Amino acid sequence: MELKWLPEIVDNFLARTNSKNYFCEIITYANSMTDFNQIIYHRRSIRKFKNQPVEKEKIEWLLKAVLLAPSGKGMYPCEYIVIDDPHLLQIVSQSKQHGAELIKNAPLAIAVVADSAIYDIWVEDASIAATFIMLEAENLGLGCCWVQMRKRGTDDGKSATQNLKEILGLKDTHEILSVMAIGYKDEEKRAYTDADLKMKKIHHNRIHNKL
Ligand SMILES: Cc1cc2nc3c(=O)[nH]c(=O)nc-3n(C[C@H](O)[C@H](O)[C@H](O)COP(=O)(O)O)c2cc1C
Repeated sequence: MELKWLPEIVDNFLARTNSKNYFCEIITYANSMTDFNQIIYHRRSIRKFKNQPVEKEKIEWLLKAVLLAPSGKGMYPCEYIVIDDPHLLQIVSQSKQHGAELIKNAPLAIAVVADSAIYDIWVEDASIAATFIMLEAENLGLGCCWVQMRKRGTDDGKSATQNLKEILGLKDTHEILSVMAIGYKDEEKRAYTDADLKMKKIHHNRIHNKL
């Protein structure tokens, strides 16, 4: 952690706490902030995985992360299918035409499914859950790639959801947002740096570049 951040961290901390145990809590707060900032710079889409299973404890952490994700109106329309059967992973990797092949070489995948009958804005809930999976995977030293399923399908005109309905035991009202491929990284990708930040995307009060 860079020391130049310390005064800011201390100020933020003191503004938020009444605790007398300042020292311990400042260190905890500073550590968590550094860890999270490192995670968002280091997370990359990983498409090559080692032939090594993901430990049960790490799978449990991934599931805790999705179960702690927020949900609009507290409706919780999402369900998560943990897939570690190699045959099933192979079938799932064929459920859309492009960009899903990597699933067959992953030791683990989590399908992010939602019941659209429970909540009309399930896409937002499911996207937050998928994002939590990506960040928790990086936190656990695992690689992850979001494989989009919603609005994708195969050249025969079938949607990915239709292709997977029976095999994953989906109900008629179930939709699949994505399948998150997860495993130990078997490719190196550089972490992002400040030079990668697309600062042009940030605007102050309004977008000023209208023609
Ligand atoms: C909504 C969404 C859908 C994506 N779908 C796929 C996909 O179907 N297949 C794939 O290989 N990568 C997919 N990706 C990964 C993106 O290609 C990747 O995030 C992007 O190129 C930026 O690279 P990074 O994740 O390493 O920062 C998806 C990412 C997002 C956020």
